[in-house]
Amino acid sequence: MNEPIAFIGAGNMARSLIGGLVADGWPEDALWAVDPNPGQRETLATQWPGLHLGEDGAEAISHADVVVLAVKPQVLDEVCRALAGAVQARRPLIVSIAAGVRSADIERWLGGNLAVVRCMPNTPALVGCGATGLAANERVSPTQKAVAESILRAVGLTVWLDDESALDAVTALSGSGPAYLFLVMEALEDAGVQLGLPRETARLLALQTAFGAAKLALESDEDAATLRTRVTSRGGTTERALQVLETGGLRELMAQALTAARDRSRELADQLGRD
Ligand SMILES: NC(=O)c1ccc[n+]([C@@H]2O[C@H](COP(=O)([O-])OP(=O)(O)OC[C@H]3O[C@@H](n4cnc5c(N)ncnc54)[C@H](OP(=O)(O)O)[C@@H]3O)[C@@H](O)[C@H]2O)c1
Repeated sequence: MNEPIAFIGAGNMARSLIGGLVADGWPEDALWAVDPNPGQRETLATQWPGLHLGEDGAEAISHADVVVLAVKPQVLDEVCRALAGAVQARRPLIVSIAAGVRSADIERWLGGNLAVVRCMPNTPALVGCGATGLAANERVSPTQKAVAESILRAVGLTVWLDDESALDAVTALSGSGPAYLFLVMEALEDAGVQLGLPRETARLLALQTAFGAAKLALESDEDAATLRTRVTSRGGTTERALQVLETGGLRELMAQALTAARDRSRELADQLGRD
């Protein structure tokens, strides 16, 4: 599965995806990347000399079976409208990683009647540990779904959603989720300092604990609740701390936070798809 792919926008995310694909054995000369910024193109050329690089989106699309839209959401409408002719001439699979822009809007800006997969990755994709939700419109074939999945799997875990509207919940959970966990890490570090630990010691212990807990949970057959119970001895220190977190309303607070993020995701999609 080495379909020619054109990346429109060659910033952080496109770079991670290209790196993941090349590491997975995708030939560099099957990849095109388009960006107006010479600095971005230079970075890519140094890292992957076999890549096709340029400023002309239409030219790149004329070679591609898959077009990955990797520009900022705010410029996506303008970028799509400029490329509509080239896309309609070639009719490739469209894969959008732009946060919060609905596939129906992308399809409309590109001239309509296109196979579109909309993805919601998160920032750990930049280190190959992303979590991405994907949703396909009715024109995407099973083969195209497999191609879209292999592009995003190059930077981490992928999950398909039957209904695109579920991507608002994905945005609330895993899209914004790294920030919630950074907040927890900050809070752990600060609390450790308050208990007398040196700042750097507290920081390293907080980070490694978060990483180790996630790795243990991912590699275990047990769910998080079972793993939690297992480290909570009756009358011990963990039990005492968990009582404070439960009575303080951590679960309710998390539910409220995700609901607020989900609602904001809907609002942003309405705004971005207005025209
Ligand atoms: N970063 C993440 O972890 C993450 C997570 C989830 C979703 N996403 C989504 O991924 C997309 C890309 O994010 P990013 O972090 O990679 O952004 P980025 O680093 O800013 O990259 C976007 C690139 O697109 C270029 N560009 C602007 N107009 C263009 C055009 N007409 N044709 C081709 N390229 C054009 C930009 O150039 P200039 O700099 O010159 O404008 C920039 O180099 C966004 O839609 C974002 O919502 C990112």
